Parts: sequence; structure tokens; C-alpha cells
Amino acid sequence: MNKFVIETRNLCKKYQNTPAVTNINLQIESGEFISILGPSGSGKTTLLRMLAGLEESDSGQILLADNDITNIAPYKRPINMVFQNYALFPHMNVFDNIAFGLKIKRELTQSKIKDVVLNALNLVKLSGYDNRYPHQLSGGQQQRVAIARAIVNEPLVLLLDEPLSALDQQIRDEMKDELIYLQKQLNMTFIMVTHDQNDALSLSKRIAIINNGILEQFASASQIYDKPETKFIAKFIGNTNLLTGQIIEKSANELIVEVNTGIKLVVNQSNFKSQLISLSIRLEKVTLNLKQIADSKNQFPATIIRSQYQGGYTVYSLKLNESTIIKAIDTSSANYQIDSQIWLSINPTDIIVFED
Ligand SMILES: Nc1ncnc2c1ncn2[C@@H]1O[C@H](COP(=O)(O)OP(=O)(O)OP(=O)(O)O)[C@@H](O)[C@H]1O
Ligand SMILES: [Mg+2]
Repeated sequence: MNKFVIETRNLCKKYQNTPAVTNINLQIESGEFISILGPSGSGKTTLLRMLAGLEESDSGQILLADNDITNIAPYKRPINMVFQNYALFPHMNVFDNIAFGLKIKRELTQSKIKDVVLNALNLVKLSGYDNRYPHQLSGGQQQRVAIARAIVNEPLVLLLDEPLSALDQQIRDEMKDELIYLQKQLNMTFIMVTHDQNDALSLSKRIAIINNGILEQFASASQIYDKPETKFIAKFIGNTNLLTGQIIEKSANELIVEVNTGIKLVVNQSNFKSQLISLSIRLEKVTLNLKQIADSKNQFPATIIRSQYQGGYTVYSLKLNESTIIKAIDTSSANYQIDSQIWLSINPTDIIVFED
């Protein structure tokens, strides 16, 4: 028995000759909340539609709890999808929208359907709205109806395409809490597509990062953030200083890298074949001090050239030499002034290295 509720094997899809999804291998466990995150046009919706059976794959397989469903019709898959534009039936009230799929199936009595629909409305916090029509609902409420409609069939997997993107910030935050609540309550596998990294980091247990149709990493939020496997991910997630340079010295566990802008950095890594590498240093890993600290590696005098107060923290731009500018986040209340001289240091273990 496969422990994965959904598994894709080398899934591929091209539109005309343009690849949209290339060799995607995903293994998703039952009851997980997964995000698929990537820039616009990276293939997220295409992948979701392939899982739902709304898009045919060119090659590869989709397995659902051990069964090959690659060529099974969408309505025969225990997978439902909530579309980005909600796709509610405008001429039906909320009750009928949610009951639609159940009525077509003809498996339940009228009174059982009523129970199931009212229970779903309660779950999405819309009790009492059953007689309204979609145009009488706010965007957030329409979204909830779309979710209720998708869960009444008790699918094994719920696919959500950008469920939060049309909502304003406050409703978005509420909806996030409710998605987490719903997912736990239903103990259903949720696969959510988003291009918002904050939504992905805060909602899901694991995140699949897709770029140009290719799965670059599928890991927990903290692994994605702290140990990005590709340069694209380091740039795409969070804020980082990205530098390029070459290795000029190697020891058993350290590299000395000459950055193209003229500074030298010690990095706690080894085993790099190529001499040319890129370095990623998260803004919050750059430490600022008024004085030089004894025995600290990667320590440089710098001038503050820009300061942006963000409430709770400040982002500083620091000039190390004519062509090296490093950004740092400082959460202390130090309030360094523009043009002041300070020291910055970067722990060698906090530098992430990519081979170019
Ligand atoms: N029906 C189609 N015919 C031709 N090309 C398509 C079709 N649907 C998608 N594409 C192309 O496939 C690629 C992936 O599109 P997709 O909609 O999956 O991206 P996405 O990651 O969902 O983007 P967004 O964040 O903007 O929704 C894009 O280059 C897109 O132009
Ligand atoms: Mg999309």
C-alpha cells in the first residue's frame, strides 16, 4: 500500500511546443496541506488541472492511493477543485450551488442532501445564507460557497487555485485561519496554488516550488527558507543579498571566496567542483555592531547609505566599498543614522552557496 494519497511520476504537458509542466514528481501524504508556489506562468494551474483531470498530460502518471488515474475522467476522481474565479452558477442560490454535485450523483435522499449542505455552510461560517444568490455575496463569501461546494462530496483531495488572491488583506487573514481550521476538521488533503510566499509559508506543511514548469524543491517551509536548493529559490523566497564570486582557497570545511565586487568571504562549506559560485546571505543574518568584535570572521567596516524603518525592524543598506552594497535587517532600536560608520559581520555558516 502506497502511503501517498497523490503521486505524480514524470508528469509532462506542452501547449503547442511550449512546455508548461516538465517531469514533475510529487509525493503527497494523506492529510497534508501542500502549497504549490511559483511565479506567474510557471505552470501551477496547469499542474492542478492535470491532477483534477481537466487537462490531459502528454506523458507521465498520476496515482491516487495506488491507483493509476492518469486517464480517468474528472468526475470519477475523488478530487475536487476550487477555481480562482469561484465559478459559481449565477442563476442558482447558495443552497443549490452547493447541492449541485450531490443531486447529480443521485446517491442521497433530499433530506440527507439538505443535512450535508447545511453542515457544509456551517463549516464555512455561512449558516443562514442558503437562499442568497452569488451576486448578493461579497468576494470572500463567494469563495466560501465555492469551498463548501467542493467539500460536500468528501473528496480525498481538495485543490485550491489561488483561493486568497481576490480578497483584501483583512479577509485574507481570516480566510487563512479558516482554511487551516477546515483542513484539520475535515482531515482532507489540501493542495493550494499560490504565488504569494507568505501564504505558502504560513499555511502549508510542505511547499512545492515550481519555476518554468520544473519542480525546483519540495520541502518544509523552514527548509525552503533556510536551505534553498537553487539560486532561483534563494532569490524568490524572502529577501537576500546575492553575490557572485570565485573560490580562491579551499580547506576541509571552509572556502574563501573572492566576491566580484572585491571583498573576500569565508564560507563554511566545501565540495564544490566549480570555481565560480553564487552566495546568498539573508538580510537578517547580517549583524551590525558599533565596534569591531575580536575574532569575528567576515567582519567589515561599512557606511550606512539608506535606512528604511518598517515598524518592528529597520532595513539598512550598507556600503562596504565602491561596488559592494549589502542589506541588513536590524530588529534592535539602535536607529543608525545615514552616513554613520559601523561594523557588519556575517557568520560563515549563514552563507548559502550555489554552483554557477
Ligand atoms: N490553454 C493554454 N494554451 C496555451 N498555453 C497555455 C494554456 N494554458 C496555459 N498556457 C501556458 O502554459 C504556461 C503555464 O501556465 P499556467 O496557467 O499553468 O501558469 P500559472 O503558474 O498558473 O500562472 P499564474 O500565476 O499567472 O496563474 C504559461 O506559459 C501559459 O501561457
Ligand atoms: Mg494560475
